[in-house]
Amino acid sequence: MRVLVTGGAGYIGSHTLLELTAQGHEVCVLDNYSNATPEVLTRVRSLSNGIIHDFIGDVRDTAKLDEVMQDFVPEAVIHFAGLKAVGESTEKPLLYYDVNVSGTLTLLRAMERAGCNRIIFSSSATVYGEPVYLPYDEAHPTNPTSVYGRSKLMAEQILTDWAATSPERTAVLLRYFNPVGAHASAQIGEDPTGVPDNLMPFIAQVAVGKRDALQVFGNDYDTPDGTGRRDYIHVVDLARAHVAALNYAQGATGARPFNIGTGQSYSVREMVAAFERACGKPIATKQVGRRAGDIAAMQADSSRANAELDWVATHDLDAMTASTWAWQSKNPDGYKGS
Ligand code: NAD
Ligand code: UFG
Repeated sequence: MRVLVTGGAGYIGSHTLLELTAQGHEVCVLDNYSNATPEVLTRVRSLSNGIIHDFIGDVRDTAKLDEVMQDFVPEAVIHFAGLKAVGESTEKPLLYYDVNVSGTLTLLRAMERAGCNRIIFSSSATVYGEPVYLPYDEAHPTNPTSVYGRSKLMAEQILTDWAATSPERTAVLLRYFNPVGAHASAQIGEDPTGVPDNLMPFIAQVAVGKRDALQVFGNDYDTPDGTGRRDYIHVVDLARAHVAALNYAQGATGARPFNIGTGQSYSVREMVAAFERACGKPIATKQVGRRAGDIAAMQADSSRANAELDWVATHDLDAMTASTWAWQSKNPDGYKGS
C-alpha cells in the first residue's frame, strides 16, 4: 500500500518506516523537522530496501498537504506528527491544540479532497487519566489531566466523527503506553533535545556519562517499592502494531481505539536495575519528591489489539534495555554525532 507517514522522521515514525518497507509498503514522509533531523532518513534508507519518498512540511500547511496528496496519492495515512511534552503543553496550550488538533483537522480535510479514507492515529494512554481500575481497557473512562492528553482526546473525537460519515472511512486510534528501546541495528533510536523528560532516555544518558544522576520522582506511591509503575513497550513492537493496524484498516469501517502495551508494568527502581544489568555499571540515582501530575501506576489490557489486530508484543524488558544501551553507547550524542 502507499502510506503517507506524517512525523516519520521522529522516534516512533522512523522505526515504523522500517517495518512498513520490510512488508512491501511504499512510504512517503512528511515532517517539518521541529523534533528530528534529516540524518534519520539517511539512516533509515541505509537499513531498508524499500521506497521512501519525503517532503519537508508542516501538517498545518494546507497547500503543502495538497501537493503531497497529489504527488504521492496515499491509500492510507499514519499520523505521528505532533507535540508530546506533557509539561510544555501546560505552558503552551495554544501551540499544543494548534499542532495536535488543528494539524489533524487540516490533514483530514486534505485527505477528503484526495479521497483517502484510512488513517492510523498516534494516541496515548494519557487519554485515560487517573485510573478507575487497572489494567485500563478501551472502555475505561477518558479523563485526561494535561493539555497534551486533552489534545489527543480531542483529535480522537474528531477522527471518530469523521469516520462515521461514510462506510468507506476508517480511523484506527492507537493508544500507546510507554515506548522505549531502539532498532536492533543501533542506527536509529530516541534522541531527545535538551534534558530528557522521560525515564528511559534519562537513564541512558546517565549510563553514558552525559548526566550525573537520575532523579527518582517520588517513593511514596501506593506501589510495592513506592516508585511509579508503567507499561513499557519496545518501539519495534509498537512499530509493528502500525503495520497490523494498516492490515486491519483495509477491512474495517468507522473508528476504533486500541491499547498498545505489554500488559506488564515495572517500577522506576526495577527499570534502573534492568538498565544496570544491560550496561554493566551502576546508575546513580537521587530520590526527590513526586513530579506534578504523575499517577502511581498504569498498565494496558491489550487483548483487543491481540485479537482484532492480530498483534502481540514480543520484546521483553531485557530487550528494551539492551537495545537502548546499544543505541546510546554507539551514538552518545544521538544523531548529532554523525
Ligand atoms: P517525535 O517528536 O520523535 O516525532 C514526532 C515527529 O513529528 C518529529 O519528527 C517532528 O519533527 C514531527 N512534527 C512535529 N510537529 C510537526 C508538524 N506540525 N508538522 C510536521 N511534522 C511535525 O515523537 P514520537 O515519540 O515519535 O511520537 C510520535 C507520536 O506518538 C506523537 O504524536 C506523540 O504524541 C505520540 N505518542 C508518543 C509517546 C511517547 O512516549 N513517545 C506516547 C504516546 C503517544
Ligand atoms: N521518572 C523519574 N525520573 C525521571 C523521569 C521519569 O522518576 O527523570 C518516573 C516518572 O515519575 C514515572 C516513570 O518514571 O513514574 C515514567 O515517566 P515518563 O516520563 O517516562 O513517562 P510518563 O508515563 O510520565 O509519560 C509517557 C509520555 C507521555 C505518554 C505516556 C503514555 O511522556 O507522552 O507515557 O503512557 F502519554
